[in-house]
Amino acid sequence: MTKKTITLTDNTNGNSTELELLEGTHGPGCISLSGLYKETGYFTYDPGYSMTGSCKSSITFINGEEGILLHRGYPIDQLAEKSSYLEVCYLLLYGALPAENEFSEFSSTIKNHTMVHENIRDFINGFRYDAHPMAMLVGTVGALSSFYHDSLDINNPKHREISAHRLIAKLPTIASYCYRHHRGLPFMYPDNNVGYVENFMQMMFAVPAQEYVHSPVAAKALEIMMILHADHEQNASTSTVRLAGSSGANPFASIAAGIASLWGPAHGGANEAVINMLEAIEQSGETIETTIARAKDKNDPFRLMGFGHRVYKNFDPRAKIIAGLCHELLADLDGDQPLFNLALELEQATLNDEYFQERKLYPNVDFYSGIILRALNIPMNMFTVMFAMARTVGWISHWMEMHNDPEYRIGRPRQIYTGHAKRDYPS
Ligand code: CMC
Repeated sequence: MTKKTITLTDNTNGNSTELELLEGTHGPGCISLSGLYKETGYFTYDPGYSMTGSCKSSITFINGEEGILLHRGYPIDQLAEKSSYLEVCYLLLYGALPAENEFSEFSSTIKNHTMVHENIRDFINGFRYDAHPMAMLVGTVGALSSFYHDSLDINNPKHREISAHRLIAKLPTIASYCYRHHRGLPFMYPDNNVGYVENFMQMMFAVPAQEYVHSPVAAKALEIMMILHADHEQNASTSTVRLAGSSGANPFASIAAGIASLWGPAHGGANEAVINMLEAIEQSGETIETTIARAKDKNDPFRLMGFGHRVYKNFDPRAKIIAGLCHELLADLDGDQPLFNLALELEQATLNDEYFQERKLYPNVDFYSGIILRALNIPMNMFTVMFAMARTVGWISHWMEMHNDPEYRIGRPRQIYTGHAKRDYPS
């Protein structure tokens, strides 16, 4: 097949360079820049990497204009309706839906790894009681490399797989321990007789003094939330995991880097910020109008939390599903209906506002997720931890894919140097 190319002409000297065009299964093509510097003497400049494809990936596809999200080809709404979180984990990791025997083997492997080394409990107890759960999570996941160094050879595919299983299995245990430590509650051991999501709820909310009663409605809501957060292509935290991992860093260190990146309010921290914003409207005399006016004011750093997305220039399909979940389950979960109604009003006000229309700013996944998490009794400072727990499978799937990619090299961008010209040290 003949290569498709694009010609770049340098108007300063009239030289032309042929650049190869690369195409994927879906989505816009990319201009390959691999020979650019050698042939032209130029790098590219793309702050925020919004025009840069950093890798080839077969895990997740997003069409931001149409609001489409596919995992391994399967639409997110179908996965949310028909699949389970653990099945989606298998799909992301291995590329196909599991056969029945593959799934039962995978589930039992994950169950075998749900406990953590006893010293990890001591490790978590070393944090101040009022430490933010994300601070504990980022530290503890990084520290896993000091507990599980029996399988840290990144060049060994079996080691990589064991680490992936450990991360998926242990994140709920560690996340619940961060919460329990913060609340001064005893740590609960995992219970492998219940499902992945139910086990997490039990470790979060059970007390040793009495039997824990599961809520199927809450488990269903959390299962769907976990599926919706499982992966999202080359976002900031996933790219961070790939970049950290590209130097050969071990998987636990790489995922800890991803958790740190997720923490910021422009990324996974937005779900917490949305509830703060809605409560401010509810309680502090701010109105929808003043909130929107502040978000549009370029002299005010405030942004409407839960709105806008680098890739989606339409409704985030995950936000649509979570809004539907709120409509369906909020009453059964005894959730905060007035807060949800306020969120709907705010969404409606932005849809009718020129500023938001022109910039194609729609609700993203974080806009409604806090409302469901609150209805599940998850405290606000645990929201981003929940996101990290669900996203761990996406991060580790990308880390595994990177290690199987023959084109993988250390990630090392360049810069436009704007400092002093060369000068001599005073004699
Ligand atoms: N409120 C008000 N204005 C906004 C918002 C917002 N939430 N988001 C973007 N804009 C404006 C922005 O000021 C800019 O306007 P102008 O063209 O006049 O300068 C224009 O829209 C384009 O914004 P941008 O900053 O160039 O877009 P970006 O792709 O760099 O940023 C974003 C994407 C998600 C960081 C941003 O929309 C934002 O800060 N949103 C609020 C935080 C949030 O909800 N984050 C969750 C993201 S989705 C889940 C996740 O990744 O974890």
